[in-house]
Amino acid sequence: MNIKKVLVAGATGYLGQYVVKELKKRGFWVRVLIRNKAQKDKFKAVDDFYLGQLTSPNSIKGITKDIDWVFSSVGITRQKDGMTYMDVDYQANSNLLKEALKDKVEAFQYISAINGDKLKHLKIFEAKEKFVEELQDSEINYCVLRPNGFFSDMKDFLNMAKSGRVYLFGDGNFKLNPIHGEDLAKICVDKMEEGIKEETIGGIDIFTQNELAKIALKAWKKPIKISHLPDWTRRFTIWLLRTFTSSKTYGPIEFFLTAMADDNIANQYGTIRLEDFFKLEVNKLKNKKY
Ligand SMILES: NC(=O)c1ccc[n+]([C@@H]2O[C@H](COP(=O)([O-])OP(=O)(O)OC[C@H]3O[C@@H](n4cnc5c(N)ncnc54)[C@H](OP(=O)(O)O)[C@@H]3O)[C@@H](O)[C@H]2O)c1
Repeated sequence: MNIKKVLVAGATGYLGQYVVKELKKRGFWVRVLIRNKAQKDKFKAVDDFYLGQLTSPNSIKGITKDIDWVFSSVGITRQKDGMTYMDVDYQANSNLLKEALKDKVEAFQYISAINGDKLKHLKIFEAKEKFVEELQDSEINYCVLRPNGFFSDMKDFLNMAKSGRVYLFGDGNFKLNPIHGEDLAKICVDKMEEGIKEETIGGIDIFTQNELAKIALKAWKKPIKISHLPDWTRRFTIWLLRTFTSSKTYGPIEFFLTAMADDNIANQYGTIRLEDFFKLEVNKLKNKKY
């Protein structure tokens, strides 16, 4: 059997690391993109590294040589290096696609986020979905996945719960089904193998925000204390940030505050439960302390 060769861009991030592990578990040949040599230490069993900076096209020449599939979860989640969503979520991925087209790569998988196609007025999705459109218009076989919030991001609830109270905007009845990176990575590889073009992916359990707050408080063994802030405070915060800060500052917060004001329900997958993830995280945090 011809073993597929896969380039993973975004491998140094939360989701990408799980994707690399899943690909190796299934016997794929894997090349990982890194930005500096120290990042090699994050990986145990990959076949090749490519050292380059996706935002500098000259530094990624030949990155997709002999590659069959490209996976990219490259994007800004927490601002680190002063770049904009357009620089990274759009342009860096576009630079990678150009290389993939030059090398006649068979398929390209890109990770956007839930409702990205409906919320293009948000800075993050303006950039992500601009890349999605470019990918769809290209000659490559594409797979666009729009996952729900990752468990890693749900740690914000856990951090709030540690102090004994969770603050929510509105009545807390909007629903979501977040997903663990390990579950999502399996789906990413499945969807590539199945040749699926587009899908919205979520975790096994659907929670209201109130339920999510409760399990975060329970993980800390705290009594249930939830405060509901009027929705105008959320809208006012977005307005304040948009008016007085740059998109680098307000982009991630605008995304979070907008997502909290609607249902975010995706197709249900996976087996890992948020309660168990929260319990593990609390144990890790407690062990760190002593
Ligand atoms: N977190 C969520 O809840 C969620 C939900 C749905 C969708 N998504 C989307 O899924 C994708 C992956 O999320 P994640 O949580 O795995 O993100 P992450 O842990 O922040 O990883 C992001 C990846 O992008 C790379 N990157 C960031 N800035 C870069 C730059 N200027 N140049 C080159 N590479 C850069 C990072 O490389 P370095 O390690 O070198 O910085 C890393 O490999 C993101 O696009 C995110 O928007 C996230």
